[in-house]
Amino acid sequence: MATLPDALDAEVARYPTKRLADSAQHLIHRYRTGVDPSSLVLDAEVTAAAYAAYRMPATHAAVTAALSEVADLRPDYEPRTMVDIGGGTGAAVWAATGVWPSLGELTVLDQSTQAMALGRRLAEHADNAAVRRVRWQRATINDLQLPPVDVATLSYVLSELTDRARADTVRAMATATLAVVIEPGTPAGYERIMAARDVLLAAGMHIVAPCPHSDGCPIPRGQDWCHFAARLGRSPLHQRLKTATLNFEDEKFSYVAATREPWPSAPGRVLRHPVKRKGLVSLRLCGPDGLNDTIVSKRDPAAYRAARDTSWGDSWP
Ligand SMILES: C[S@@+](CC[C@H](N)C(=O)[O-])C[C@H]1O[C@@H](n2cnc3c(N)ncnc32)[C@H](O)[C@@H]1O
Repeated sequence: MATLPDALDAEVARYPTKRLADSAQHLIHRYRTGVDPSSLVLDAEVTAAAYAAYRMPATHAAVTAALSEVADLRPDYEPRTMVDIGGGTGAAVWAATGVWPSLGELTVLDQSTQAMALGRRLAEHADNAAVRRVRWQRATINDLQLPPVDVATLSYVLSELTDRARADTVRAMATATLAVVIEPGTPAGYERIMAARDVLLAAGMHIVAPCPHSDGCPIPRGQDWCHFAARLGRSPLHQRLKTATLNFEDEKFSYVAATREPWPSAPGRVLRHPVKRKGLVSLRLCGPDGLNDTIVSKRDPAAYRAARDTSWGDSWP
């Protein structure tokens, strides 16, 4: 039984590194130049393997970070069922079961049989029995109708859908108790998250995280974007593929989580790395009244200690 990096080592390392690296470069080029929504990106076994080796550890880290923020706000929430739309090789089911061990019935929907075949093989290595039992269901996201589920996730998928399919898919997620959409932490990813947020609000949900309110986003459009970072270790395979010397990386992501249920919201959200100077911590915050910069001084020892322990993306106070 294994962690995700162990499972990737077992299932993916058998491909020659050069073949995986070439495939990963081809994938990156396709993602950077924009994916044609009518095409299948993970269309071959080696392409799915390259995606899993190169990107899955990072999407897993981003989903874990987003779901952890949601779970921290309501520690008594124990979801049982989850659907991951466009789940590919299964990063989100590994992440969600790590955050909520109560999850017992999980389904991955995806159009790529190659990605799901690898996802199933990876899942066989998981410690968590629910991951080993995941239902892998081939589906093209058109007119998606979800069964009632506790958690619906959509991670790193929106850019591969048409505008119409984006809105329809996110609207379909609003039948879940908790809907969570995660995208790359780029200006374009943030714009897609903002559009998804509008759809979830229009469907009658309210925002759980990262926003401490369900009002309009106070960040001036075009000047800045709301995003966070998740640090992940790079396995030797990951390092080889990236020809990287560092044994870690920071995955930038944007996300929105919404629900219909009562859910405590964060009083404020830390939007930048806190700036720590002698006796002072400066925090860039989003709060119910909009953006503000707060300076916490040593003269308030409890607040100062808390501010020193606070990180970008945390709720505050
Ligand atoms: C970038 S990958 C993300 C995979 C996974 N969610 C993750 O976070 O690692 C995008 C996934 O969306 C799937 N996808 C894209 N368009 C789709 C569609 N119209 N219907 C079903 N799946 C789709 C792809 O097959 C691929 O597995």
